[in-house]
Amino acid sequence: MLKRVLGRRILSGLCLLAGAALMSPAIFAADEGADLAWKYHCTTCHGDTGKSNAQRYPNLAGQNSIYLVSRLKYFRDGVEPGNQMNAQAAPLSDETIELLADYFSRQSN
Ligand code: HEC
Repeated sequence: MLKRVLGRRILSGLCLLAGAALMSPAIFAADEGADLAWKYHCTTCHGDTGKSNAQRYPNLAGQNSIYLVSRLKYFRDGVEPGNQMNAQAAPLSDETIELLADYFSRQSN
């Protein structure tokens, strides 16, 4: 009898844990744009949330995303030789640019 009750308790405990584990990705959903900003080192110069770390780097937080996309494509295309951003933007795919622009535009400035 005791064994049965204990067994049930353990089983329901496990169910709760499993439920929590299943739900956690939704609760703690990672921000893909934030991850990419780290991965491509944008945060080194532009700050974790797009508030720049130094006067010579522009703030990106809260900037219009369409504008950010066009700037990143401009850099990626190397229109302006010698621009420091050209090398930063060179490896970015269109999708990555969209995600980064979306991320920085959502940050408060
Ligand atoms: C080594 C420092 C450095 C890194 C790393 C860097 N940037 Fe920049 N970024 C700059 C500088 C400097 C400028 C200003 C360029 C200019 O004057 O044309 C700039 C400009 C920009 C602009 C244009 C802002 C505007 O107002 O027109 C965008 C957008 C941008 N960076 C996004 C990014 C993203 C996204 C990444 C990561 C993939 C990144 N940057 C990585 C230094 C950096």
